[in-house]
Amino acid sequence: MQFNGDDAVARRVQAFAVRLSQARASDYYFFNQPVQELRGGARVLVRGREMGMYASYSYLGLIGHPRINAVARAAIDEFGTGTHGVRSLAGTLAIHDELEATIAAFKRTEAAITFSSGYVTNLTVISTLVGRGDYVLSDKLNHASIVDGCLTSGAEFRRFKHNDMADLEHRLQMLPDDAARLVIADAVFSMDGDVIDLPRVVELCHRYGAYLMIDEAHSVGVLGATGRGIEEHFGLRNAIDIKMGTLSKTIPSVGGYVAGKQDLIDYLRHVSRAYIFSAALPPAQAAAANEAFKVILDEPERIQRLNRNSQLFIGGLKSAGFDTLATTTAIVPVLCGSDERAYLMTREAQHRDVFVLPVVSPAVPEGLARLRATVTAAHEPADMERAIEIIAGVGREIGII
Ligand SMILES: Cc1ncc(COP(=O)(O)O)c(C=O)c1O
Repeated sequence: MQFNGDDAVARRVQAFAVRLSQARASDYYFFNQPVQELRGGARVLVRGREMGMYASYSYLGLIGHPRINAVARAAIDEFGTGTHGVRSLAGTLAIHDELEATIAAFKRTEAAITFSSGYVTNLTVISTLVGRGDYVLSDKLNHASIVDGCLTSGAEFRRFKHNDMADLEHRLQMLPDDAARLVIADAVFSMDGDVIDLPRVVELCHRYGAYLMIDEAHSVGVLGATGRGIEEHFGLRNAIDIKMGTLSKTIPSVGGYVAGKQDLIDYLRHVSRAYIFSAALPPAQAAAANEAFKVILDEPERIQRLNRNSQLFIGGLKSAGFDTLATTTAIVPVLCGSDERAYLMTREAQHRDVFVLPVVSPAVPEGLARLRATVTAAHEPADMERAIEIIAGVGREIGII
């Protein structure tokens, strides 16, 4: 089948092909650039050039950690590379149970369940918990996997203004008294780097009888003195009903999880479709994730370094004149304006060996295209200062600052 007819599908595919070839012709195509080598904590080889890595989710610099690599190798020796199927049939290995116990302890909950990715976790958990006749309220800037979970659930889907507690309260007041309601937010917003006002959300959920689910993809290892996430950051305990997270960012593996009360986890284990109908995490990845939670607790200086690096990076870019929105974390948006300017910034920064990537519309509103820069515990302050200088130099050339 050729996509060159004049039906709707062919028109969409062709229009996209034109956009791609224009982007390639302008050297604006930054999609899927392969990292050829890791060189130390925060340097990578891309297109044959060594660059400073400012686009990594490995917030604590744990990718390649010797302890984590060693347990992954040992898990392969013990269990091989695959499982025997889905968890509920023969796929559950001892390492899966261990990992779930580790997560529950780390998140200070009764139990935890893992899935094959963070995306799938949001999709399956939201659509298992709520459905027709229920209501789900989601922050406007929540991750796409949350949006997709809400849409597939069949529940009435309402978005509240970003981190706007008056709007959330207003929307909660509008719901029918007897309807089940779930409020969902990212802990740290993945495009803006700001933190949800958890104490107020918790208060509103209590007042209006709503369950609370928080996605901690970018807060585990990032927030809280010991990296346990957003509750620790705000000095709260057992405030979140459904603590969701990924094993693919600070935790250098793949997968997603939910931690919470035993009854909730039992329910998800027996009812959620992605648990029942999709293969278990590979042994090496489960073992790596399990060890990573332990490394976070054993090496708290990584969190301190990440905090120092985040403040240095945000402060440097702000004093150069960039708008970094309301970030206080390792995710630092560097606003560029139009998509074209974000592409130009990326191209020029990469030509000067700073590996940053753009985020453009529709992922962010038009006119708010940006570099979505990140720092990690593995960056050296001198390298970061050099990167700030380069980004600022490019920003001046393009007329952003
Ligand atoms: C906030 C948030 N939730 C969920 C996910 C999905 O996680 P994963 O990449 O592990 O599927 C991401 C990943 O980008 C994310 O940023």
